[in-house]
Amino acid sequence: MEDRKDIEKIMLTERQIHNKVVQMGYEISKKYQGKDLLLVGILKGAFIFFSDLVRSIDIPLAVDFMAVSSYGNETESSGIVRIMKDLDDSIEDKHVLIIEDILDTGHTLNYLLKVLNARKPASISLCVLLDKYERREVVDIIPEFTGFKIENEFVVGYGLDYAEKYRNLPYVGILKSSIYDD
Ligand code: IMP
Ligand code: MG
Repeated sequence: MEDRKDIEKIMLTERQIHNKVVQMGYEISKKYQGKDLLLVGILKGAFIFFSDLVRSIDIPLAVDFMAVSSYGNETESSGIVRIMKDLDDSIEDKHVLIIEDILDTGHTLNYLLKVLNARKPASISLCVLLDKYERREVVDIIPEFTGFKIENEFVVGYGLDYAEKYRNLPYVGILKSSIYDD
């Protein structure tokens, strides 16, 4: 693939991701058995993780999506979040599980949790594929489900982008710094 030349190193292979997603689906199915589960995918980054994850969950569920954008440059989160697309339906009395690609500083999810908690869900939890724990600024954000804890490197692929590119790579790779340094 043409984009492969911009990747320094593959961090997580397709197989590693697949195995983890199957395991996470199993855990989620167990935890939410008999509950009214709503999975909320955060666009755009979570779209591939989300679509794989739902197929690994074998209890009834509903899906909805939100799109948010944070002000700031391409690789740093500013902490100011804007809702570009809100949920279609009420989450009142539902067990909400937010599905996000990556937890970095925590500002995006912190803001989303505040907004969604005000809508009176029965419960609200987080499920993230990647956790860049060293970068956390909002310390009380603790996901219920985490795929991989990763080092502080800018990664792309499997839904994650740099300037809207690389989302279609089937693995998670470290982007060459020369791509975003200039
Ligand atoms: P936070 O608000 O700092 O936790 O940032 C979360 C958002 O920043 C994620 O939803 C991603 O869109 C983006 N982000 C953070 N780190 C990366 C990365 O390594 N690659 C691609 N996007 C990232
Ligand atoms: Mg993003």
